[in-house]
Amino acid sequence: MLIISPSVLAADFSKLGEEVNKVHTAGAQYIHLDVMDGIFVPNISFGPPVITSLKKVTNITFDVHLMITKPERYIKDYVDAGADIITIHYESCDDPEAVIEQIRSYGVRPSVSIKPATPPEQIFHLLDKVDMVLVMTVEPGFGGQSLIPETIDKVRVLREYAENNGINVDIEVDGGINSDNLGLLTSAGANVIVAGSAIFRAKDPEKVIADMICIGEEFPFKKTKH
Ligand code: DX5
Ligand code: ZN
Repeated sequence: MLIISPSVLAADFSKLGEEVNKVHTAGAQYIHLDVMDGIFVPNISFGPPVITSLKKVTNITFDVHLMITKPERYIKDYVDAGADIITIHYESCDDPEAVIEQIRSYGVRPSVSIKPATPPEQIFHLLDKVDMVLVMTVEPGFGGQSLIPETIDKVRVLREYAENNGINVDIEVDGGINSDNLGLLTSAGANVIVAGSAIFRAKDPEKVIADMICIGEEFPFKKTKH
């Protein structure tokens, strides 16, 4: 089944605990926590203290997306704060494989992300070392942008490579996703969906989550015929 990971960037930060529990009850299995340092991306969000506080009021899976330079400096802090999954950016460090190993050594699920301009082939060698790959469908840094259509094919390239090589890996997509474009992403092979605005800014977030899960079943991954 499709995993929905609402991004808190679009939530009301004055009542973050309530917002997270609301989407958890509505069927979201993960909560997506976007950490930005103002250097790797031109925006600043929040760090470990916010995650530590949130961990005390919910038992949803914490899907932490680190948009920070040299993430190896802070992995332990995010582990201690309560991360269940940690995504680092392929472009953010000199030795992504070492950081992936570092994350796994703490018993946390490692994931690697690529920005829209990074070709998917560059992370083929990491696919069997991570639990998840995050394909950015917008330039990282801000919520509320429109999905870049060219990124959809990168999902397909990664899913087909994984299938052809017997690799069991989750593929998460992030940025500008809503019920209208979701089917394109699931049929390309994505199975973990981040959505900020589409969920937290909706009148009925519960319905959006239910609809998204149905769309995942309606548009499953199909291999390209050659
Ligand atoms: C962008 C973040 C996303 C963002 C998604 O840098 O990684 O997680 O919050 O928000 P929407 O769904 O509004 O594009
Ligand atoms: Zn994100």
